[in-house]
Amino acid sequence: MKVEDIQSVVVIGAGIMGEGIAQNFAQSGLSVRLVDRESPIVESCLAKIDANLGLFQEFGLLQEDPSDITSRIAPFLSGELARATEGCDFVVEAIPEILELKRELFNNLESLSRDIILSSNTSSLTISAIAEGLRDPGKVVGLHYFNPAHIIPAVEIHRGRQTSDEVVEVTRELMFRVGKKPVLVRKELPGFIINRLTGAMEREIDYLLDEGIVTPEDLDTAVKASYGFRLACLGPMEAEDMIGLDTAARSSGNIFKVLSNKTEPSPMLLDKVDKGELGIKSGKGWYDYAGKTREEIGDKINRRLLKQLALFRAA
Ligand code: NAI
Repeated sequence: MKVEDIQSVVVIGAGIMGEGIAQNFAQSGLSVRLVDRESPIVESCLAKIDANLGLFQEFGLLQEDPSDITSRIAPFLSGELARATEGCDFVVEAIPEILELKRELFNNLESLSRDIILSSNTSSLTISAIAEGLRDPGKVVGLHYFNPAHIIPAVEIHRGRQTSDEVVEVTRELMFRVGKKPVLVRKELPGFIINRLTGAMEREIDYLLDEGIVTPEDLDTAVKASYGFRLACLGPMEAEDMIGLDTAARSSGNIFKVLSNKTEPSPMLLDKVDKGELGIKSGKGWYDYAGKTREEIGDKINRRLLKQLALFRAA
């Protein structure tokens, strides 16, 4: 299959991630079939995409009329998988992170005998595990987007033990075509690249909070105004070159020894979860969101990220 031949994609799962993934494909001119279990879920997803496109337009990031973009997204129910995949070239699975659910779906997709690439947006499972038992595991590939998927440029492409080189290459070219920044994970490993990095940082954050060394607010300020401020334009390897590799090696030699090596989440975090303080979705997490709707909070976050996207694209 050639990337130019791909005209329509199927996005399965119209939840948090499916929304941004479907939008990105439609915005790039592809026809999208958006599948979920119930009509109200797909309808609500389409309404969110509409609102997202309104914001893109406001920030000067759209060349097309939003209604032309949404007209390229067709809703389907999971019982209509055969019809949804007819004549399609590429599937992105974005259903919940439950191995059995994903395996069942991939089995169903394979039984439809389509010549189609099957990608999974899994955030923590391996592709070998998802593709286990399929007749042709070579056509299954990992495509890990970052939330919100309609804004964050990077996607990690990761392969299972049997994923074919051609499938990896076509997926990579497709991501370039839709304006993403694909990054290839060269060996199969849990967490891929970015979740391993954020996991390592979260472990140390847990430790600093648990030990009372910094407050959540100061921690956010410190990261946003230092390390994080630099990261969007200077990656860790570029930053090490700027610092000097000799200095970086000495610093790592001193710091690695004193870092947390815990293997469980922090008691403070678990306590919050026990109390139902789950973050924006429950109205309270590290911060208090009382009096604000999820939509208002989401809109504020998206506006900040879109400003950054405009700068990123200009750079
Ligand atoms: P979600 O729970 O928001 O959405 C999943 C959707 O799939 C729901 O709307 C559900 O009704 C639908 N669904 C369930 N079974 C289905 C089936 N058989 N056919 C069609 N639709 C079905 O989940 P979310 O957060 O979008 O996650 C989806 C995947 O993306 C997971 O594998 C997750 O690990 C991964 N991911 C999530 C990120 C996040 O920030 N939420 C970031 C990166 C990856």
